[in-house]
Amino acid sequence: MRVTNPLPIELLLPETADVDETGALSIGGVSLLDVAAEFGTPAFVFDETHLRSRCNEAVAAFPDGVAYATKAFLCKEMARIAATAGMSLDVATGGEMHVALAAGVPSARLVLHGNNKSVEELTAAMQLGVGLVVIDSFDEIDRLERIWKQLTDVAPIRALVRVTPGVEAHTHEFVKTGQNDSKFGFGLASGGAQEAIDRAVASPAIDVRGVHAHIGSQIFESAGFEREIELLVPLVLRNELHELCVGGGLGVPYVTGESAPTITEWGSAVLASARLAGVPEHVAVTAEPGRSIVATAGITLYEVGTIKTLPDIRTYLSVDGGMSDNPRPVLYGSGYEAFLPRAVSASRPRTVTISGKHCESGDVVIRDAQVPADTRVGDIIATPVTGAYGHTMASNYNRVPRPPVIFVADGQARVVVRRETFDDLVRLDA
Ligand code: LLP
Repeated sequence: MRVTNPLPIELLLPETADVDETGALSIGGVSLLDVAAEFGTPAFVFDETHLRSRCNEAVAAFPDGVAYATKAFLCKEMARIAATAGMSLDVATGGEMHVALAAGVPSARLVLHGNNKSVEELTAAMQLGVGLVVIDSFDEIDRLERIWKQLTDVAPIRALVRVTPGVEAHTHEFVKTGQNDSKFGFGLASGGAQEAIDRAVASPAIDVRGVHAHIGSQIFESAGFEREIELLVPLVLRNELHELCVGGGLGVPYVTGESAPTITEWGSAVLASARLAGVPEHVAVTAEPGRSIVATAGITLYEVGTIKTLPDIRTYLSVDGGMSDNPRPVLYGSGYEAFLPRAVSASRPRTVTISGKHCESGDVVIRDAQVPADTRVGDIIATPVTGAYGHTMASNYNRVPRPPVIFVADGQARVVVRRETFDDLVRLDA
């Protein structure tokens, strides 16, 4: 249980957050209480200006090219925002590729990832002419060759070879990816990476542009990226490659007291380490951030439904969502803060467990949340920094319809993904 006074919540809010004279929060010039009243709860609210700024910042920080990792948050509007800013889009499945294309993003802007891409996904990538495919296995090289022969008149596919550099990032086990024991990519230490490059270079179906690595997610220190770059440089030089992609992974603060480099700082550190490690100027040094683009832009609004005090044990404050709209606390033990949009700066001396409405005890949003003393049933309560891996990882557990996504900007709120209805829940049933 935390005993210290929590730091101001304002540090975790998106760019256009503003507190009015009554102490209530607005984002993009729209009161969050009005959003809750108009669109209901739970709801994901995104600061559109914040999204655009982060995309622009990433484009400036990585002048050789940067892709937005759509797994963090994807809908047609988000795809358009990233593409309009000049980003490419990292899509890791046929489904993500479909959404990006449906949004009107040109196929040449897509980077197709995946450790088990299907024949259908690879065929679509070749036929549509995606910008890059990131090759992840020898089976995939075989598959690409077979598809290319069958299609007869398509150009060789531009590719990066995904390398597992053997770097341990300091983050949760499930989101580490750079270590040697990984389902992703080709091992550097084992020689697999060089063998994959040799095979891909020799293949008429593949135009090898460079190498790619991704060491993990929610990383706060640049040391891991520096090490990753040092390890990849010999491959780039030896094979005279044109691109070195460092992946994504930049962390964001979720709770007060945490701090992370900005995208600008991360970009400068990556580019400086690349040059220091001997990457020639003509080699493009690129990245593919997800979380750092969208996390802080998003806030979840819930309504407090019940408050149950168990004497000498704890107080359960239950909200109208939970593990279906935010599985991260259950999956990774991730921490969040909570506050009342009606009184953003109020002191938060009361400790409660914020639980969801699902039928299991583990359905906890925040184990020891600090909330204002007068928090009551019917209040709108918000968790900041839910823009990444929230809506995209939401489920229909207990047949709870998924919340809508509302964008706010310039005094307007608009629905960019509508709330699911009960009818949606039986749409696929026979
Ligand atoms: N590139 C690749 C190849 C990736 O696998 C990922 C994330 C990214 C880029 C973007 O990483 P980011 O900048 O967002 O850290 N569901 C977990 C995170 C899983 C990350 C998977 N890969 C979570 O909620 O923390």
